[in-house]
Amino acid sequence: MSGTTVPAFLEARRSIRAFAPDPVDRATLDALVEAACIAPAPHHSRPWRFVVVDTPAAKGDLAFAMGERWRDDLRDDGVTDDRIDELVAASYRKIVEAPAIVVGCLTWDGLDRYADEHRQRAEWGMALLSLGCALENLMLAAADDGLASCWVAAPIFCPEVARDALALDAEWLPHAMLLIGHPDPAYIGRTRPPVPLAALRAFR
Ligand SMILES: Cc1cc2nc3c(=O)[nH]c(=O)nc-3n(C[C@H](O)[C@H](O)[C@H](O)COP(=O)(O)O)c2cc1C
Repeated sequence: MSGTTVPAFLEARRSIRAFAPDPVDRATLDALVEAACIAPAPHHSRPWRFVVVDTPAAKGDLAFAMGERWRDDLRDDGVTDDRIDELVAASYRKIVEAPAIVVGCLTWDGLDRYADEHRQRAEWGMALLSLGCALENLMLAAADDGLASCWVAAPIFCPEVARDALALDAEWLPHAMLLIGHPDPAYIGRTRPPVPLAALRAFR
């Protein structure tokens, strides 16, 4: 890349939060996960695992468990019961109505272990950065395929709850999820704001 133009394939990826009801076939979902799995990762590890959730039962279990956990957090924040019901119901709908969900998990597999807390935390942080790279790969591949995607943060607030709702191995800790589907043609996303480069970068 030279000059100031952002490549079109990067521009093409947007968060799309409404989907046509059509399912996404599993071969396509596998291809997207494969794209995620060629992401850069610390010391040639693959510390991520991906769980494709595309059955109504598993979507419902995940949405319900995370919703109940969120309900507790909102209650602790002093949010009113009516508002809590509204928020949790909207979150439930968003998850169960997505044609497919890819849950991004982290494991310690391939990561270095340190005796001290600060390097151990940095190692986990590197894995988390790498999961972000993997999920960006997946979203770019989806956009390239004409599919819509949207990152949903919820699992990072309750990794164990999401893990247990999906009956995953104890080592697989969900940290993010992507909703995937064919885009709803009626969906109008936000206009992407211009990049205020001067405020966001520095040269030294
Ligand atoms: C770590 C992360 C967490 C996000 N969590 C949510 C979320 O919980 N719900 C949601 O609708 N969008 C979520 N998003 C999507 C952002 O809102 C979106 O990327 C941002 O507004 C920029 O829009 P664009 O993706 O269309 O360029 C998240 C994105 C990232 C990277």
